[in-house]
Amino acid sequence: MCGITVRVGDGDAVAELLGGLENLEYRGYDSAGIALQNDVGVSIVKREGRLDHLREELDSGSLHGSIGIGHTRWSTHGPPTDENAHPHTDCTGEIAVVHNGIIENYRELREELQADGHVFTSETDTEVIPHLIESGREEGLSPERAFRRAVDVLEGSYAIAAIVDGTDAVFATRQGSPLVLGRGAQKYFLASDIPAFLEHTDEVVYLKDGDVVRVETEGYTVTNVDGEVVTREVERVDWSPEDVGKAGYDHYMLKEIHEQPTALRQTVRGRVDSLSNDVDLEAFPPGTFSGIDRIHLVAMGTSTHAAMYAESLLTENGVDAGSYLAGEYATAPPPAGPCTLVIAVSQSGETADTLAAVRSIQGTDVRTLAVTNVVGSSLTRECDGSVFIRAGPEIGVAATKTFSSQVLTLSVLAERLVRDITGHSIENTGSFFEALSRMPGDVQRLLDDSSARSLAEKYLGSDAYFFIGRNSCYPVALEGALKFKEITYEHAEGFAASELKHGPLALVTSETPVFAIFSGGDDDTKTLSNVKEVQARGAPVVAVASNSSREAIEQADDVLLIPDTHPVLSGVLANVQLQLVAYHAANELGRAIDKPRNLAKSVTVE
Ligand code: M6R
Repeated sequence: MCGITVRVGDGDAVAELLGGLENLEYRGYDSAGIALQNDVGVSIVKREGRLDHLREELDSGSLHGSIGIGHTRWSTHGPPTDENAHPHTDCTGEIAVVHNGIIENYRELREELQADGHVFTSETDTEVIPHLIESGREEGLSPERAFRRAVDVLEGSYAIAAIVDGTDAVFATRQGSPLVLGRGAQKYFLASDIPAFLEHTDEVVYLKDGDVVRVETEGYTVTNVDGEVVTREVERVDWSPEDVGKAGYDHYMLKEIHEQPTALRQTVRGRVDSLSNDVDLEAFPPGTFSGIDRIHLVAMGTSTHAAMYAESLLTENGVDAGSYLAGEYATAPPPAGPCTLVIAVSQSGETADTLAAVRSIQGTDVRTLAVTNVVGSSLTRECDGSVFIRAGPEIGVAATKTFSSQVLTLSVLAERLVRDITGHSIENTGSFFEALSRMPGDVQRLLDDSSARSLAEKYLGSDAYFFIGRNSCYPVALEGALKFKEITYEHAEGFAASELKHGPLALVTSETPVFAIFSGGDDDTKTLSNVKEVQARGAPVVAVASNSSREAIEQADDVLLIPDTHPVLSGVLANVQLQLVAYHAANELGRAIDKPRNLAKSVTVE
């Protein structure tokens, strides 16, 4: 997972390339570099480490040029060093390339090129690309033909941008990795994601797999795999530049936690009608899913927890549903047929494991549906249909607002599925729609009153942190633990409340606080028994509960209060409290909250 930026146009490109890389740092941040086309040829600066290292190097003002390519890296082949940082060049230094993705046949290509006398200076798969272009140039091909021929022999997933000395253009392509073109005033951009250039333009062109684009100051041309000129629609995005800034918060994660009321309002807007007692899911009118008798939900990480949440909601309402880790599903898919619907849940829509799960059933008669935040993402192109969670851009590596929006989107979708498949309705279980509509306000009240910060401080320094819940609160226990471990680096584990006594109880001591999540429903009684079990071993218990769970509140050592809601939605509110606990604990520990070590926002390798 890496980030690419390209800038072509009047004026100097350095500041805009760096700005773009800063907005893409969430895609990878172990090294960065830029290459510029200028009157002395192709100039490159690249540095291991955070973008600041590159910025310091460029502060001397030695580098100029109006056409440039930039890259922020998250290593897949070779450690993060200056040599392995992008851009990579050919033997002459006249061709520079940035790349996101993986070239699967790079070993064979590298051997062939070395046999022809090419000298490699890095351990990356990327470096074969400039050498392949160089070979084409040596045979007399134009830069564009040489680029196209190089791309033709690559296997794998990639987005690539290249500059060639003496040519005032950037050549770029994509295959399985994202690449978007931005059209500004007298300048053009290419990037792995829109925030890279959003402060310069909101006009975007989503390139398709196999497209090759030539970008010059005067304009751009897109050609397809066969080399024919094609028209790709220019679309306007409604994200503002402020949407991708920190807006006064110390971290993107905290900003995104506080954006949840707005995000959830967008998620449910127009989709839930408590007056007509129905849901409206754009392209999926009533009856869309009749004939489906089994749902497979596939996802990774936080999105898996949202998928599990939906699984619980569906099964509780009579629909045969199962959630699977997409990476496992891809290699060992369970039986599926024409009556199976596979729902792929992914914030980015670019997670390689999730795409692999969808690809594993492509060409069969299984129907696929993407639930994602990113319009135009690979997942939306590979699935039969898409439902958008409408959470807005999420920059912090730790998923927060997108989990809440995923759960609400899946809840609306679950209502459509339950109605189409069983003829019943979740709404009949009692004010479900009203609870969905009230959710943005409930989250706001919770954020205004949360005592998560003092609680996080109180338990700082514990040996480990455990999270337990039942039914739809079980995935929230897993998500609470995931959030805690990924940004605090402390040991945190989530369990089904029923599972604790089957082994994990051996770990419970007075130094292991247990966060117990209560739904306010019938399952509270059993979770309360589990709470007593851990208290008997000396563990302090934090109940995450609403006033409906009175007994739990009285029994617990500490409480994180959530507003009363429909029991199947309590988990969404409980999760917001747990996001805040994780955030404040990590902040106290001085962790790199928005960019935790070893992690990237979107994992585009399997
Ligand atoms: O973009 P996706 O939702 O497909 O990403 C899946 C996981 O990599 C992601 O949810 C990850 O677990 C989160 N960053 C954790 O906070």
